[in-house]
Amino acid sequence: MRSSTQAVPEHTTIPRHIAIIMDGNGRWAKKRLLPRVMGHKKGLETLEALTASCVRLGVEYLTVFAFSTENWRRPVDEVGFLMNLFLQSLQKRVDKLHKNNLRLKVIGDRSRFAPEIIAGISHAETLTAANTGLTLTIAADYGGRWDILQAVNQAIAAGAREITEASVLPYLSLGAAPEPDLFIRTGGETRISNFLLWQLAYTELYFTDKLWPDFGEPELMQAIQSYQTRERRFGRTSEQLPAEQQRS
Ligand code: IPE
Ligand code: IPE
Ligand code: MG
Repeated sequence: MRSSTQAVPEHTTIPRHIAIIMDGNGRWAKKRLLPRVMGHKKGLETLEALTASCVRLGVEYLTVFAFSTENWRRPVDEVGFLMNLFLQSLQKRVDKLHKNNLRLKVIGDRSRFAPEIIAGISHAETLTAANTGLTLTIAADYGGRWDILQAVNQAIAAGAREITEASVLPYLSLGAAPEPDLFIRTGGETRISNFLLWQLAYTELYFTDKLWPDFGEPELMQAIQSYQTRERRFGRTSEQLPAEQQRS
């Protein structure tokens, strides 16, 4: 991964990498007088549909926040349901991803997951490793601070004498992926909630009140259209940009 603070990434009209905080499942269910977990179930279907939209549009990387390090604080039943949903989708949905040439990756601290989940993740990653289509990365038991610290610790363990961007970059969770071009958060909150703290340094941010289960292709297109109006200067002045990238 090249860092946006070291080099200006290539400019593309369709974001190469989209990162999403899929928020609002609980409120979606509550509005329908359903248990919160039904919102998570619907949210998983939304993710499947949106992944297909991203493939059609030519997005190369989609990274989604499924479970944060802080989400362990939720009621035991809800955490249990989410873990089960994760396991089931690893068992039942990965073959379809593989047939569609997608690459699946999971980032986060695996050590707290049940052994079946850890095995399911390894199987899914190995099965799809050589695929050449969109890379779908699921952030599970993920936290941005955890990510930075684990990368620094790995760099130290590998003998780095000084911690620099270059020494830490290879160990960050998203590895060789370009940094996200567009960040989307559904559900109305305007915070990062400890998602990709390092990698979002120069990402364009987009917040919407739509609840995640209601976020479909038209909403994705709106986010991309907003992205297309942004002038990505990376520290430069507007006049320094190529004419086709200047917005005013
Ligand atoms: C996001 O939806 C999914 C997870 C955090 C797992 P929420 O469950 O946070 O939904 P709201 O914010 O309560 O509506
Ligand atoms: C962020 O959503 C994490 C995921 C979507 C997985 P939360 O709903 O947990 O975020 P906060 O705690 O309200 O910021
Ligand atoms: Mg929430």
